[in-house]
Parts: sequence; C-alpha cells; structure tokens
Amino acid sequence: MSPVPALVDGFGRRVTYLRLSVTDRCDLRCTYCMPEHMAFAAARDRLGVDDLYTIAGAFIAGGIRKVRLTGGEPLVRKDLPALLERFAGNLQRGELDELVVSTNGSRLAQLAGTLVGSGVRRVNVSLDTLDPGQYREITRGGALADVLGGIDAALAAGLKIRLNTVALRGVVEGQIDALLRYAHGRGMALALIETMPLGDTGVSRLGQYLPLDAFRRQLETRWTLTASPARSGGPASYVEVGETGGLLGFITPLSCNFCAACNRVRVGSDGRLYTCMGHEGSVDLRPALGVGGAALDAAIRGALRHKPERHGFRVAATGLAGGIGRHMSVLGG
Ligand code: 5AD
Ligand code: SF4
Repeated sequence: MSPVPALVDGFGRRVTYLRLSVTDRCDLRCTYCMPEHMAFAAARDRLGVDDLYTIAGAFIAGGIRKVRLTGGEPLVRKDLPALLERFAGNLQRGELDELVVSTNGSRLAQLAGTLVGSGVRRVNVSLDTLDPGQYREITRGGALADVLGGIDAALAAGLKIRLNTVALRGVVEGQIDALLRYAHGRGMALALIETMPLGDTGVSRLGQYLPLDAFRRQLETRWTLTASPARSGGPASYVEVGETGGLLGFITPLSCNFCAACNRVRVGSDGRLYTCMGHEGSVDLRPALGVGGAALDAAIRGALRHKPERHGFRVAATGLAGGIGRHMSVLGG
C-alpha cells in the first residue's frame, strides 16, 4: 500500500510506470529520430541528479512501480551512476518492482556492470540492422561493433535484453530473419516498432513507414508465429516463433492503437511532465521542486487529470499525420 492515494488519470487509468529521460543528447543521429544537425536543450535546462530523483521520488510515493531511464541516450550522461545508486535504494526497500533502461548500446560494454550493481535486470537495446554499413547510414556514423560488443557484455553480466527494431520500410524486410536468429539465438526477445511522426528529421516519414499488421502476415509465410500471452508491461503484443522458440513483439501505434491500457507518464531531463508522447502539452514540475513534496504531488495529480485519452498519430494519403514537433530524443519513446 502506498501512503497516499494511487495516481489515476481522468479516464480512470492507474499510472504505475514512469519513463524518465536523463538527457536529450545522444551519440548517434538516427535518421528517423533527429536531423543531422540537431539542436539539443541548453545545459542549464538539464536537471541535476538530486532534482531528477526528487521528481521520481514523488511518483514512487504515489505508487509508481516501474521506472525506465531513457534519453536521448541515457548512458552518455556522466553522473548516471549516482542516479542509479538512488534508485537502488528504492528497489532494496521494495518501493519499486523494476528499474529498467533503454539504450542504443554504444556504451553498454563499459556500463553493464554498473547497471547490474544498481539492481537493473533488464535493458532494451535499439538495433535496426545487423549490417555494419547500413547501421552506419541509419545512425549517421554509429559503429555496429560497439553495440554487438555491448550486448555481449550485458548478457555476460546477467542482464535480460529486448532488442527494439524500428520497422523501417526497405530495411527491416531484409534484416528481420537475421535479427530473429541473432536475438533468439542469445535468449533475447525482439520487438518491432512502427515509426511515429515525432519531430522533423529532414527525411520523409511515409517512405519509412511499414505497417506491422501486413508485415506480420508476410512473416507468417516463412516463420511459424503463435500468439503468446507474454507481456512486458507495455504496448507490445507478442508471438512465439516456432523455429527459434523466441519471442517477437509488435508495437503498433499507427496500425493498431493501444492507448486504452496506457499506464505511463514521461518526464524530460528538464523536469517537464508529459502525460502523452503523442501530444504537445507538458507541465513544468520545476516550480514545485523547491516548494516541497506536497506541491510536487499536487502538480503531478493536476497534470494527470488532463492526460489525453490517446495519441493522434495516423496514416494519411499525404504522409503520417497527427505528428508533433518534439523529437523522440526528448523523451526516448
Ligand atoms: N518512431 C518510432 N520509434 C522511434 N525511435 C526513435 N525515433 C522513433 C520514431 N520516430 C526508437 C529508437 C529506440 C526507441 C527509443 O525509439 O530506435 O528504439
Ligand atoms: Fe539516439 Fe536513440 Fe535517437 Fe538513435 S533513436 S539518435 S540512438 S536517441
């Protein structure tokens, strides 16, 4: 039992999952995420570890059971270990069920041990292709070997991994078989994510978009897919792949909406609370920071009353519609 009433939104949805972006910066420049010359937030707008943890603490007091650290790329933040340390205390006291991380994997080899030492048991690693040249192109300069080395180190350190693959038309069709064999051969689940219209990237969204309902039917001509009851506490729906025994997830914001079961909110590294990734609105929690726990709690509950029912992303003849100006790197998905 939490000491205060549970966090509930205006549609009666319990909010139990906080995604905390610790930086909007990233060492990669994925073509579907940001433009080549990305304007990042000013350093003075990035909260320190104490403030980030104070905000997260207000959510934990309200009954949040799972925290995910995201970015940008969370592992580029130098003082991340200090923040992890704070959450380790919540895990030890049973105030949190899970602390998880989403990463592009480029620095996992260096940080896997630190993550495990802080109580992290699962990470999501973004990987769209196993071809080094194609990886360099999609990420505008990333080195696939760093990610594969990071994955090996994380597995050796005992982390469970789900690979997240953005379903990019013209890429994923040629990569999916290799990705399935690679992931499932190492005991990792693989999730495919439809590309969403978030921020201008200088690249056409419709050209990148591949509807996963049709792609799944295409996969079924080569792979035996059986619906699985597996859930990861998020919008992915899973199938088991008969040939590999592994799990394949589909995250379908455009072809199949899942907002009715939404249990999450997001906080940016600038202390803004976003109750929906698919809307522009946010509430600045910083003014409440210096005032005390009650003010922070009130600001959070006030914002939750206005959590939108669903995002407005959709496919139109002219492109992906319902998009918003904020880039994915502000909140990390
Ligand atoms: N649509 C869907 N997924 C995206 N990601 C980044 N930008 C987009 C987008 N526009 C993915 C990354 C990573 C996760 C944080 O979100 O590849 O897996
Ligand atoms: Fe960085 Fe992730 Fe965006 Fe790629 S998708 S540029 S790894 S934040």
